[in-house]
Parts: sequence; structure tokens; C-alpha cells
Amino acid sequence: MTTPMLEIRDLHVRVEEREILKGVNLVLPAGEVHAIMGRNGSGKSTLSYVLAGRDGYEITSGEVLMDGQNILDLDPNERATAGLFLAFQYPIEIPGVSTMTFLKAAINAQLKARGEAVLSTPDFMRAVKDAGASLQINSDMLKRALNVGFSGGEKKRAEILQMALLKPKLCVLDETDSGLDIDALRIVSDGVNALRSPTRSMLVITHYQRLLNYIVPDVVHVFSDGRIVKSGGKELALELEAEGYAGFSEAAA
Ligand SMILES: Nc1ncnc2c1ncn2[C@@H]1O[C@H](COP(=O)(O)OP(=O)(O)OP(=O)(O)O)[C@@H](O)[C@H]1O
Ligand SMILES: [Mg+2]
Repeated sequence: MTTPMLEIRDLHVRVEEREILKGVNLVLPAGEVHAIMGRNGSGKSTLSYVLAGRDGYEITSGEVLMDGQNILDLDPNERATAGLFLAFQYPIEIPGVSTMTFLKAAINAQLKARGEAVLSTPDFMRAVKDAGASLQINSDMLKRALNVGFSGGEKKRAEILQMALLKPKLCVLDETDSGLDIDALRIVSDGVNALRSPTRSMLVITHYQRLLNYIVPDVVHVFSDGRIVKSGGKELALELEAEGYAGFSEAAA
């Protein structure tokens, strides 16, 4: 059996003394795209933050393996170096640091940490220009401070640009579709689809079945009250759209 890209085993997490994740189990094989859908407040972003290693979450039990390696003991930088990328639901603004400078620092830090040669400035510029063009991110935007004053849709496109340049092996996209107009949705989805590969896996958190017409998932998981309560094919998303979460959520309560 091949090692899954991500395996979550019975993960329990507390925030401020309250249990938010209540036994998450998930196996995401290499090369697959899995969607997570679930009500507001069910714990989806909490799961993405715990995967990325954000402070403030108390893991009371369970394991998270990325490509067979336990990542819960790694700090966020080490996880990123190992190939994990989280596109935030609410991208962070970094005043005073241009998008270009940020991207270069992020890429070169990862290359260095892996013992690989850093990119020359011309190589870096070319990579950004190429990746930016397909995401309709122009040089004006790249000169501006990261995410500062970017529209909602521009922030989401900037997240995908980072992802395209960092070439992570595990991508977690937290509501990357929220707030996108129909053209931006297509641009972002095309950007994500271009990154699909047999050696890369994606976990796509969304509220909208519509996104999954563009980024077609291998598996859809329904998240409710801190755990996955049902998994199925992409038709599960249609079922949710038609019936809402009522039929799925309180089975365990
Ligand atoms: N730092 C925190 N302090 C207190 N409660 C928190 C904290 N972070 C998350 N929570 C609570 O955990 C629960 C899950 O939140 P989370 O953001 O993971 O939900 P979500 O499924 O991503 O929701 P949405 O669909 O609205 O994005 C919520 O009730 C939230 O208020
Ligand atoms: Mg969320």
C-alpha cells in the first residue's frame, strides 16, 4: 500500500478549553483532491490551522501524518518546508513588505531549508511573471504591500500565486472561492487545476457546490460538529446543496 499524502487519525483539539475537533479521521492519497463541506462553526478552519501549526490549539489526542511523517511536532516553518501550504480563509496583510519581496523571501527560505540552490533574481522574476499572468496578477499588484488594500478576490488570487510558486505537495485551501466573482472563480480554479499532479494532494474547504464544478474532487467529506460524518463522491455535494446539513449533522449528537 502506498503512503497517503495526509492521514489524520482520531484528532481531538481544544481551543480555549472547548473541544472543537472531536475525532477527525481522514485519508488523502497522493494525487487526489478532497473537498470538505460543513456548516459555519463546525471546525473546518480550525482543522486547517491545526494542520498548518498555528499557535493556540491544544491537541489532546490523535495523529497527523504527512507523507508518513508525524507533523504535529514540527513548527509551521518546518511543515511548510516539508511541503504543506495553507491558503487562508482570511489572507493576512503584511504592510511594508511588497508582494514581490514576500514571494521571493518565502521561496528562497524554503529552498535554503531544503538545501537547494536559491533562485537568481531573473529566474525568480520569470517564474512570478509566468504564474502571475495566468492568475491575472500584474506587476502593479506585485509592487504593492502584500494583501494591503487588495480586494477580496485579489487576495485569493495572491494566495494561489504563492501556492503556484512554492509547489507544495499538500495544499489546504480554506474557502478560497468565497467572495470571488464568476470570472475570478474560473481564474482561481484554473490555477488550482493546473497544479493538480500525481504527487500533489489538495484539501479544498468550501460552502459551495459551484466550486466543485470547476475543481472536481475525488472525494467529498461532510464535516459536522468537529468530525467527518460522511464521505462520498462528488454527488454528495449535490445532495448537500439540495437538502442542507440537517440530515447529516445531528446523527452523532
Ligand atoms: N480562538 C478561538 N477562541 C474561541 N473559539 C474559537 C477560536 N477559534 C475557533 N473557535 C470556535 O471554534 C468553532 C469552529 O470554528 P471554525 O472557524 O473552525 O469553523 P468553520 O467550520 O471554519 O466555520 P466557517 O464555515 O464559518 O468558516 C467556532 O464555534 C469558533 O467560534
Ligand atoms: Mg472557516
